Amino acid sequence: MRFKNTGEIPIPKDPLAQVIGQDEAVKIAKVAASQKRHLLLVGPPGTGKSMLAQAMALHLPKPTEEIAILHNPEQPERPFVEVRNVNQVRKEEKMADALKGKTVAPAAVPSFVAERLGFRCRRCGRLSRASEASCPNCGADKKFESVFGNIIAEDAYSSDKRGKRLSTTRVTDDGREEVIVYERQGEEILILDQKTLEKMDAVKKKRPRKVIVPFNRKTFVVATGASETELLGDVRHDPYGGHQGIGTPPYMRVVPGSIHESHQGVLFIDEISSMQYSQRYLFTAMQEKKYPIVGHNPQSAGASVRVDDVPCDFILVAATNINDLPGILPPLRSRIIGNGYEVLLESWMPDTAENRDKIVQFLAQEIRKDGKIPHASKEAVEEIIAEAGKRAKQWAGQDNALTLKLRELSGIIRLAGDFAFANSHELISRDDVVLALKRGRNVEEQLQDKYGSVWKAGASELAREKKTHQKEVG
Ligand SMILES: Nc1ncnc2c1ncn2[C@@H]1O[C@H](COP(=O)(O)OP(=O)(O)OP(=O)(O)O)[C@@H](O)[C@H]1O
Ligand SMILES: [Mg+2]
Repeated sequence: MRFKNTGEIPIPKDPLAQVIGQDEAVKIAKVAASQKRHLLLVGPPGTGKSMLAQAMALHLPKPTEEIAILHNPEQPERPFVEVRNVNQVRKEEKMADALKGKTVAPAAVPSFVAERLGFRCRRCGRLSRASEASCPNCGADKKFESVFGNIIAEDAYSSDKRGKRLSTTRVTDDGREEVIVYERQGEEILILDQKTLEKMDAVKKKRPRKVIVPFNRKTFVVATGASETELLGDVRHDPYGGHQGIGTPPYMRVVPGSIHESHQGVLFIDEISSMQYSQRYLFTAMQEKKYPIVGHNPQSAGASVRVDDVPCDFILVAATNINDLPGILPPLRSRIIGNGYEVLLESWMPDTAENRDKIVQFLAQEIRKDGKIPHASKEAVEEIIAEAGKRAKQWAGQDNALTLKLRELSGIIRLAGDFAFANSHELISRDDVVLALKRGRNVEEQLQDKYGSVWKAGASELAREKKTHQKEVG
């Protein structure tokens, strides 16, 4: 260990390389990310299951598909789903750009247009800025006045009230007459020809849509399984029942579930066995790679709405501790095994020089992540490594080993860091760690110290309660 403090330790950029002591699991997570395989991570608390799942998601390419819900005019309660890839959207954006028309300088339009839009003086013909109300050359008022004054609305001249827009006709080279619109945009003029105008109309008539899963999304989605709607999506209630004019149309009320939001990404489910009936939905979704969104509340106006075939092509990463394994439905496990891996995480690693270095890297990571505590001195690190050895013995019965229940170690370094910070130490010292180890014990351990055992503590508490009760009664 050739370092003075953890500030000198480099931290790998790759999030998977930041997971220490789980080499097998990391290898598999890499394969799973590139081959799109599911994972079941089994292991004790605080060994890096959640961390692995997140790191794996960061290894996935950016999503290429966007999911939108389209209005169905014939049957509003059966909206359509639309999946577009990046290329399609780019193409449409290009079209929209073309629809914007082109802007030109005032000198490039017929003089009567320049006049009407406030660029050209009617008296002397000089061009000037539209923002100037009178001609800077001859002083004439540039505002257009019809010969009829205000008697006839200016609409009669196909110009709006402020002279911002003028639509007229022109004869094309092949002798057709077509509509052309000139519009003032700042000090320039926008020209929209008939073709552009027609395209604009077509776009406006296009089905209204709501994007429920955008391109720009995270590839890591956590589902708690707390509710079916969270997992599978829902259709929100509308007190007006989606009535035209006053209600919100059904397609607007469709909400995606986590299975849809994790399309092309990782769906992470912690403690999967605590999720009971929903496991069934999950394996159906995994099999079909699409799942309908329906309103789940029968009392709600959303209950009559259904969108079929909403894509949900996710990678499932499920985590569980060893005792809860039987709580996972066999068909779900077989879906994972059939197209993925079950991985057992390690709870300790041999005490070697290489693995000690890994603990050092881990401590450096935790300190950087925390951001509020100073780095640790070499002596402090040695103290924590010794503790890692003790815990491997205590929890896993292993000699010459280091624990991989790293959340616990992370707690110790943070606590020690707080002591160092409170005492204005430049680095976390050995004493800070020793103090943290003493203070950081859980309540059971504290009781053990005070009463000899948790059981005795309970008994003495009971005795005290009895006494006070008798006193009060007597
Ligand atoms: N293998 C590891 N490498 C580096 N850091 C780790 C590792 N395992 C745990 N940690 C640290 O401990 C924290 C908790 O780990 P994580 O949440 O991944 O554990 P878990 O296995 O999901 O636990 P639980 O079963 O309680 O959900 C991480 O944020 C990280 O700081
Ligand atoms: Mg976790």
